[in-house]
Amino acid sequence: MNKFLKKGLIFLVIVFIGMQFYTPEKNISETYSTAFFENETQPPAPILATLQNKCYDCHSNNTNYPWYNNIAPVSYWIDDHILDGKKHLNFSGWTTYSTKKKDHKIEELVAEVQEGEMPLKEYTWTHGGLTEDEVKGLIAWAERNRVIYQYALKYKNGQLAQ
Ligand code: HEC
Repeated sequence: MNKFLKKGLIFLVIVFIGMQFYTPEKNISETYSTAFFENETQPPAPILATLQNKCYDCHSNNTNYPWYNNIAPVSYWIDDHILDGKKHLNFSGWTTYSTKKKDHKIEELVAEVQEGEMPLKEYTWTHGGLTEDEVKGLIAWAERNRVIYQYALKYKNGQLAQ
């Protein structure tokens, strides 16, 4: 091995070791924070399982971390997905969304799932994607909730909203 390559390699090893000292803060909260969302939207058991196993890792305040999250820079990459995912949609923050926003987020959920955009491709390599039944179930449950949200938007306090 030539001298230059050897030095470069040693440098990379040092950088890699150095990276291991920095671990992003974990996305784990003590409270069962998706309870409000589940109470309101009533996902049947199999749908709830899909949400828990395939969506909550990036769209709630509780991530179930894989072992490889202990290795930087994989941990940075995972952290990035979680922060970005939560910024767009956080089922743990459902109480803070207006009815209009909830309806819109559910509308987007249908589109993302229908187009096979969610869960993120990189995530499906290790966790698997959605089965056809899971897609159908999620959409049926989502559409039912959209009917309820749209009804609420149309009729405020029993009156037709202007
Ligand atoms: C590995 C992390 C990850 C997983 C798992 C994941 N998402 Fe996402 N999701 C993201 C990220 C990052 C974004 C924002 C960037 C984008 O749209 O690609 C996003 C965006 C979305 C959006 C768009 C919200 C908006 O306001 O634009 C919806 C809806 C969504 N995800 C639904 C889901 C559903 C439903 C599941 C489970 C079937 C899921 N996601 C699983 C990371 C994830």
